[in-house]
Amino acid sequence: MDNFVKITFNKKTYEFPVITGSEGEKAIDISTLRQKTGLITLDPGFDNTGSCISTITFMSGEKGILRYRGIPVEELARHSTFTETAYLLINGVLPTRKELNQFSVLLNDNSLVHEDMQIFYQNFPRASHPMGILSSMVNALRSFYPGLETVEEINKTVTRLLSKMRTLAAMSYKISRGHKVIYPRPDLSYCANFLNMMFDSPVKPYRIDKELAKALNVFWILHADHEQNCSTSAVRVVGSGRVNLYAAISAGIAALWGPLHGGANQAVIEMLSDIAKNGGNINSVIKRAKDKNDSFRLMGFGHRVYKTYDPRAKIMKKTCAKVLKKLKTNDPLLNIAKELEEIALNDNYFIDHNLYPNVDFYSGILLRAMRIPTNMFTVMFAIGRLPGWIAQWKESADDPKWRLSRPRQVYIGPTKTKYIPIDER
Ligand code: SDX
Repeated sequence: MDNFVKITFNKKTYEFPVITGSEGEKAIDISTLRQKTGLITLDPGFDNTGSCISTITFMSGEKGILRYRGIPVEELARHSTFTETAYLLINGVLPTRKELNQFSVLLNDNSLVHEDMQIFYQNFPRASHPMGILSSMVNALRSFYPGLETVEEINKTVTRLLSKMRTLAAMSYKISRGHKVIYPRPDLSYCANFLNMMFDSPVKPYRIDKELAKALNVFWILHADHEQNCSTSAVRVVGSGRVNLYAAISAGIAALWGPLHGGANQAVIEMLSDIAKNGGNINSVIKRAKDKNDSFRLMGFGHRVYKTYDPRAKIMKKTCAKVLKKLKTNDPLLNIAKELEEIALNDNYFIDHNLYPNVDFYSGILLRAMRIPTNMFTVMFAIGRLPGWIAQWKESADDPKWRLSRPRQVYIGPTKTKYIPIDER
């Protein structure tokens, strides 16, 4: 097998090395292409372009594989907790019991946010989207916790972010409803604490449901990382300018918000609710999704990398059914989702385009069962993805060759043009 490629241009032949990943993926290292040939590459959407070498997450789009630091996501969803998985992604190894306890204590010690931050919330219009609030508030954390230079300060910032972003999310929900903010409790686990901060109230104490806390662990484990997706690439690119970690994460939250990316979980529920409102007419939605002249997309379906069933969607679907059964809830949207999946998976358009359910297709139904408001679904995705963003940012920051990200372009605009004074135009 060759470990180089040859490019012939203007009668000259150049060789470029081919590097091979630990799972056999191959890449042409073109880092000297422009210097040797004067050429650049063009790849809108970066379908064919690797931005980095990474040891964090492996995905196989063809085989539907997802592993964090080599461990299959199915095993982590079955045996791990979100905090243990966050530790694994960020530190590269599973923690010992002592290390996990220390990590949990640090998360608890950093779970409160400065009281002055509550005033920020009062000034957002009531109808503000929680993702816009979260992105602003995470950026604002820098003003309260400025230290970010030494390794020790960075590690402290990591636990601050992991713990405070969860608190900020619950606070924005309570304040948006004009309810009293519930503080994190040191006696509760990461996920139980979130549910308690969201749903406890002085007039009606919230009873922690262990099953729901377990389902939330699974939900966040499934979202924890996904190699170089849109929002992770935003964190890496913004971080490459050496801005502080809060600002890089705030950029990741903003990138995740879009309906083609993390915003799809909210868009799926809106699509399923529309189908329900229109008498369950699934075929019209399928027809629109297949219509080339219609920009409508079947939300929760398709993926840039997975050309088979998203392994996370399989686990999400099972967790969904388990939680709905436990809560004795029959969500009509789940039945519509299952029928929609059945029709799409047997339709040649979806088969030919390799379109399968992705992580967002069933996740909204699970969140509804947990009583999470629809406009907070992508916030839930962001809390889950945070350890992945942090791990990816750290990997780039620890790289001795960490360079400013600055892509090139092919310019097709006007060639040199004279300035014409306004009275002569
Ligand atoms: C996430 O990157 C990640 O890892 C993301 C993520 C993560 O964990 O970070 O997995 C999370 O973002 C999951 C994806 C959530 N988004 C959605 O569910 C929105 C609906 N899906 C599509 O918009 C789309 O599938 C994308 C954006 C996810 C991926 O699209 P691509 O790779 O850019 O492909 P494309 O838009 O160029 O489509 C290729 C073809 C087109 O048809 P042709 O013109 O070639 O005939 O497939 C069609 C598209 O029309 N197509 C769809 C479709 N998705 C693609 N047609 C109908 N419905 C869809 N959902």
